[in-house]
Amino acid sequence: MCIPGCGYGYDVRALAAAGFEAIGVDFAPLAIERAARLSEGAAGAFEFRQGDIFELPRTDAAAFDYFYEYTCFVAIEPARRPEYVQLALELLKPGGLLIGCFYNHGREGGPPFDVTREQVLALYEPHFEIRKLEITPHSIERRAGHELWAEFVRA
Ligand SMILES: C[S@@+](CC[C@H](N)C(=O)[O-])C[C@H]1O[C@@H](n2cnc3c(N)ncnc32)[C@H](O)[C@@H]1O
Repeated sequence: MCIPGCGYGYDVRALAAAGFEAIGVDFAPLAIERAARLSEGAAGAFEFRQGDIFELPRTDAAAFDYFYEYTCFVAIEPARRPEYVQLALELLKPGGLLIGCFYNHGREGGPPFDVTREQVLALYEPHFEIRKLEITPHSIERRAGHELWAEFVRA
């Protein structure tokens, strides 16, 4: 499973503990250092890599069954969103799953840069089968009602 923009690696550790082979990538050296430190002795198979996610297809094209989205989409410049969709397409195997959340907070500016359900559909629907895209009841309190849970299948 690819976890782009993994930050301190909370999702990497949770997904590895759940049995996924989790690879977290972040271009911030401090994030990766801290992720590695917080992960000492953590359960499961995981790896952290420091680097630009947009470079991953050079080494990992069609390498993943899963692409996990949590606040990386909204961290990148909105002008790069088509490139970010392309990144998931290039990293996933055919039939692979993009799962995770899109943050529709409704505010100006960013990061995190707001994204609406319609914008997510316009970007992903041409390339993925949209199995689910709906407000999740599992958000933390301050994001409640603003996170869209996504399950998209790569064609
Ligand atoms: C909002 S943080 C989210 C961290 C993590 N997903 C979490 O929820 O704890 C976004 C992360 O994406 C990383 N990031 C943004 N653009 C990136 C890029 N092009 N390549 C690698 N990491 C990137 C940032 O360094 C930051 O750690």
